[in-house]
Amino acid sequence: MFNAVANAVEARMAPSHTDGTVPEANPEHQPAPEAPDGPREKMLALTWQGVNKVEMQQCDVPVLINDHDVIINITGTTVCGSDLHLMHGALLEMNKHDILGHEFCGVIAEVGSKVSKRKVGERVVVSFQIACGSCFYCRQRLSSQCVNTNASSLEPKLYGHKTAGMFGYSHLTGSFAGGQCEVVRVPWGDVNCLPIPDSVPDEAALYLSDMLPTSYHTVVDTGVKDGDCVAVWGAGPIGLLCAHWAFLKGAKRVFLIDRDWRLEYAKSKIPEVETIDFSQVKDVPAKLRELTRDEEVPGVDVALECAAGEYAKSLLHKAQLAVGLELDTPEIVNECILSVKNFGRVGVTGIYTGFCNGFAIGAVMEKGVRFIGCGQAPVHKYWDELLQMLVDKKIDPISLFVTHRLPLEETALLYKKQDAHENSIMKAFITTKYSSEPSPGAPKLSSLRD
Ligand SMILES: NC(=O)c1ccc[n+]([C@@H]2O[C@H](COP(=O)([O-])OP(=O)(O)OC[C@H]3O[C@@H](n4cnc5c(N)ncnc54)[C@H](O)[C@@H]3O)[C@@H](O)[C@H]2O)c1
Ligand SMILES: [Zn+2]
Ligand SMILES: [Zn+2]
Repeated sequence: MFNAVANAVEARMAPSHTDGTVPEANPEHQPAPEAPDGPREKMLALTWQGVNKVEMQQCDVPVLINDHDVIINITGTTVCGSDLHLMHGALLEMNKHDILGHEFCGVIAEVGSKVSKRKVGERVVVSFQIACGSCFYCRQRLSSQCVNTNASSLEPKLYGHKTAGMFGYSHLTGSFAGGQCEVVRVPWGDVNCLPIPDSVPDEAALYLSDMLPTSYHTVVDTGVKDGDCVAVWGAGPIGLLCAHWAFLKGAKRVFLIDRDWRLEYAKSKIPEVETIDFSQVKDVPAKLRELTRDEEVPGVDVALECAAGEYAKSLLHKAQLAVGLELDTPEIVNECILSVKNFGRVGVTGIYTGFCNGFAIGAVMEKGVRFIGCGQAPVHKYWDELLQMLVDKKIDPISLFVTHRLPLEETALLYKKQDAHENSIMKAFITTKYSSEPSPGAPKLSSLRD
């Protein structure tokens, strides 16, 4: 319902241009250039078709539109927890046939005339956000809040300001076609492509697009430090990585809250982690206080929300979400707020889109909780540091969370299985016709149809 309303409102508003660069940042709204000799080449792509409906489709292969664009042949892509929100229709402004996918790596196939740093043939990973490289935020490498790449008019009305444009992530973030396909156009190619050294395989580098920087940012932004007790809601790849980084930053104890096999999976990868099954434990903050009763003050120092605002727990909030009385449930963030000690920190990285009812504002104020929206994570800020960690093997995505290697043809099925927590999928590496053979230690190609 909100999706249709948001689309109608956006259609009535003029594009929000902050400077001369925006109109060209939003070309997917404009007719694609004609191919000089007949119809455009086709490729396979994962497309949004309606609430809870994604499909593989033949789509036009993208072409250079602006002088600063690059075209990339995709060698690896994946499905994110955020893509599940898009599939569910939990985010605003989706249109039928939108190509999804914001995590991908590949080989540069073409460069625009003003691209000076990137070259045809280079292996690169692309940030999920599109940054211009020169605005107020980009100069600080806070790339997710670039002011020049998102022409949405609705987003500033909702949030006061805009975020950067993002690949395959609705019209609220700029209408850019995503990368769960064979070929993608990357605007500002010099800025948004990170070359991958030979020592780092695609199956590790791919996650510099989102998973590694987002989780690292969550832990850095909330100041996790030596001796902290940290609780993390959501044991998907983001939550698991937050647990990893929290220990790396010196956390004394890390609690991971989720349900089913994901908790055992986390324990098998990070044995020091302590788990809470929210399907069995009614009062999670009380459980955390009980588990930390030997501390001078029970409770955790830092709570990290890595689940999402669409995952209502009570009937009350399920009903309010269903009829549109709220766009997000406050239940998980309230658990975070009630779990932290006074003056503790809460970081929100799980996706929230609008407004909620019953937010624990009193506890935030009275306890002095530092309530931190971690934002769409500024990927560029952490790229160099994290790439070095991959080279130095301080983080190994392949052994920590890459559970599957699947062909692009199965991406729609992967959405369904990942959403239902079936086939023990933590994170898949999706291959295309441009992919290389699996690198040593990475999962071999399999099928969800078996
Ligand atoms: N801010 C950013 O830049 C950014 C980037 C990437 C992902 N995200 C978001 O981060 C979140 C995690 O991403 P992911 O890829 O790991 O997603 P995921 O879907 O793999 O994991 C989310 C987990 O949350 C769990 N969950 C649901 N309700 C819960 C509850 N009440 N308590 C505890 N856990 C609960 C689910 O069972 C699931 O395992 C998602 O919301 C995703 O959209 C944000
Ligand atoms: Zn993502
Ligand atoms: Zn910018």
